[in-house]
Parts: sequence; structure tokens; C-alpha cells
Amino acid sequence: MTAIRPLVAGNWKMNGLLSSVSEAAALAELLRSNDEIEADAMICPPATLIPLLAERLTGSRVAVGGQDCHQIESGAHTGDISAEILADAGASAVIVGHSERRADHGESDATVNAKALAAYRAGLVAIICVGETDAQRDAGETLDIVAGQLRGSVPAAAGAGNTIIAYEPVWAIGTGRTPTADDVAEVHNHMRTQLIAIVGDGESSAMRLLYGGSVKPSNATELMAVENVNGALVGGASLKADDFFGILSAYTAG
Ligand code: 13P
Repeated sequence: MTAIRPLVAGNWKMNGLLSSVSEAAALAELLRSNDEIEADAMICPPATLIPLLAERLTGSRVAVGGQDCHQIESGAHTGDISAEILADAGASAVIVGHSERRADHGESDATVNAKALAAYRAGLVAIICVGETDAQRDAGETLDIVAGQLRGSVPAAAGAGNTIIAYEPVWAIGTGRTPTADDVAEVHNHMRTQLIAIVGDGESSAMRLLYGGSVKPSNATELMAVENVNGALVGGASLKADDFFGILSAYTAG
């Protein structure tokens, strides 16, 4: 199996003003002047900033993604955004099924699956999120919950080229708490195995599996070294270029 190139993606969530473009530009500059970092980088800003970032980051090592998309291409859906609109604005990927969308907007696995298909239709990479709640972990249900979410949310048309999976335990998001390296390894190994039944052996073994939830420069080296962890999906620490770069530095060669 060839090595999977890691990705560190920043999810800015509902943060980011026009002035935040400078943080993205600062990250691009840090990556330009430190070419020993062996990972890809992406920022998923609020939709208003996608065209600005896409323009500012052209030719840089930082890609731009959306945070959600509607299932269909266009129409009477006030406040929603389609994968085609994101692509037109300069995004190359879109996060679907983040736990905050699942919780705040009642998104089911079937909805997330449809959104991933919408991403493919528009030529975007889908970053499909899964993860258990605190109560589910306490009840010993983590592996079953994650496997069920993968079965429901990952389309059969998914492959390593169009899909990235992000494991984000809900209780680790924005809390400063993280699973142990052993716990992350257990879930990621399980995901790799479960994905075989959905996308086949070859695609599963090449697919990027990101960890997300309180990733910081201080814990990135340990978490990114875990078997079957191919990068991170970062919230709070992606808002400042220095912190984001500190996480990417876990992928310094040698
Ligand atoms: P934090 O890194 O702020 O915990 O957020 C993680 C996350 O939800 C990324 O999608």
C-alpha cells in the first residue's frame, strides 16, 4: 500500500470576517517558506469568504472547502447553499455530516449520504464526519455507532479520490478533551475495516481518515502518529495561522 498523504483541514465554523483573510494568507506564507511540511492543508471558512480565500490562496498549498451543502443543485431553499455554488465560488471540498449539523439541523445519515452525492455531482471532495457522543462512549457503543454512521452516510460511489472520513468524537469537540492514542487507533482501525464493505478493499486502504476534536499544536504530534490517522480536522486551533501551522508541523519530514 502506498503511503496516504496527510491532510490538515481547518473548520472555521461560524467564525471569520473579511479581516480573517489575512490569517489564511499568513498560513499560506508559512507553508511556502517551510516546504519540509509533508501534508496538504485546507481551510473551510464561512461561505462568504470562499471566493476571497480561493482567490488569495491561488497557487498556494492551502485549498478551500465549504462547511455544508444542500443535496440538490439549485432551487427554492432559502439560506441553503448547493455543492455547485460552492464549487463555483472556488471550493474543492465540502464538509458534510458534522456533528453540529447533525445536532442543530437534525441531519440523518441518509441526508448526509445525499449531501456527499451532491458533492461528487459538483466535483467536490466530501469530508464525511462521524463520531459518538459522551453517553454513547460511556455505554461502550462507540464502535457500533461509528460503523452505523459510516454505513448510512458513505455512498457506495465513495472512493479515496472523492471522499475523506473525519472521526470526531462529539465530546472532544471544543472541550480540550481528547481520546487516548489507543482509543483513536481502535476507532480508526475499525473504520478502515468497516469501509471495505462499503467502498471495497482498495478504496478503503487508500482513503484519508482524519481525527478531529481538540487538536492543538501540543497534542498533534501524538495524535497524528496514530496508525490509520491521516490528518486532522481542526476547529478552534485553525483560526490562527500560527496554531494551524503548529499542527501541520507534526508532519515535518525526518
Ligand atoms: P475543535 O478543534 O475546536 O475541538 O473542533 C473540532 C471540529 O469540530 C472540527 O470540525
